[in-house]
Amino acid sequence: MSDIAIFGGKPLRAEPFPEWPRSTEIILDKVSYTLQNDTWGVGSNVINEFNSRFADFQNAKYSISVHSGTSALWVALKAAGVKAGDEVIIPAYTFIATATAVILANAVPVFADIDLNSGNIDPVKVDLLITKKTKAIIPVHIAGNPADMRGLTNISEEHGIPIIEDAAQAHGAEYNGTKVGAIGLGGIFSFQTSKNMTAGEGGAIVTNDSEFFDACFSYHNCGRVRNGKWYEHHRLGSNLRMSALNAAVLIPQLDTLATDMIIRDRNRGMLDTSLSEIPGINPMVSMDGSRSANHLYMCRYDASEFNGISRETFFKVMQAEGIYTYKGYSPLYQEPLFITDPDEYPWLKDRDYQALELPNTERFANQEAVWLKQTYLLGNYDDTKDIIRTFEKVTSAMQKEPQRFLELKFK
Ligand SMILES: Cc1ncc(COP(=O)(O)O)c(C=O)c1O
Repeated sequence: MSDIAIFGGKPLRAEPFPEWPRSTEIILDKVSYTLQNDTWGVGSNVINEFNSRFADFQNAKYSISVHSGTSALWVALKAAGVKAGDEVIIPAYTFIATATAVILANAVPVFADIDLNSGNIDPVKVDLLITKKTKAIIPVHIAGNPADMRGLTNISEEHGIPIIEDAAQAHGAEYNGTKVGAIGLGGIFSFQTSKNMTAGEGGAIVTNDSEFFDACFSYHNCGRVRNGKWYEHHRLGSNLRMSALNAAVLIPQLDTLATDMIIRDRNRGMLDTSLSEIPGINPMVSMDGSRSANHLYMCRYDASEFNGISRETFFKVMQAEGIYTYKGYSPLYQEPLFITDPDEYPWLKDRDYQALELPNTERFANQEAVWLKQTYLLGNYDDTKDIIRTFEKVTSAMQKEPQRFLELKFK
């Protein structure tokens, strides 16, 4: 037992995982070229180049780049025709921006429970939440793992409600041979620092629908219309345009992302194969025919297989070994934000988010979810083996001598 780091043994892993973000010569050259030859903003050829290459990369006709994933969501909701007081169905397990963008569009987030095996929104639960006021559905491809787009598309078609994909974490992910983002009416991506492709900050909206594209253009560009005059404003838009420098940082990553995805696939495969052998550790499941972007590695921890040792104790023991595991999101409706002030958000005044109980979301977020950071999936074979060995070392010790772990106290 003395080999367990938290009890004074040697940590299994001391080396860092690959650094992120990653600067390359090609990125530096593109930024330098842009500074010397481009407008840096409006009228930029580099932004046009990025829009067209990103659209191609995501198998979409159009792409508009904006300055964050959050603003991309707001633009997409407005362009989809979501109006004040409308309802938008979103998963309860996601980053806060999926919900805040809905409120920023003066609409009402309606939380759907997730499927425990994938962590993604459950179409069966979505169907039960449709009302006359539902004006959009936002599936999130959580951790890069495509949601059940077939189930959701059936609902969307039956009720005539558009789907806006939140693919903030899912660059390059595929569903039935098509990249995500433009499977529904449109979809959004984030290029914030932690993402698989990053410019520090940034976002994009992709679509195959020319009307939606035109409306997105307008909302992201101060309400201007394509081919309209500079001082002619049709909608309550904003300046959400991306800088050319961000586009310059992103363009070369369209090439490196393809290689990174192969590395992520391999590492995720190794982790899934080995961790699924450990009773009490359950890897997440991807839909048949899909390819996850493997942004984060997530799995489920079942305390009942470890004599009731809590997930939080497991995290501390793993961290002491040099592998950082953590819990990730809380059920969104339990965030303090959702104790809403009726003066500030009058359109939410009849919603009692505190009374919501979504069992799968609560079980996953509050008891079972285990996250590894995105850079862990970019390591080499030996790095991934170290993650596996650490899971094996810690879980077998917890199964053999649970009492020592049950007695651990943390501040
Ligand atoms: C699922 C999801 N949606 C939306 C966003 C918002 O993106 P951004 O941080 O670029 O505004 C993020 C990013 O963190 C995200 O993970």
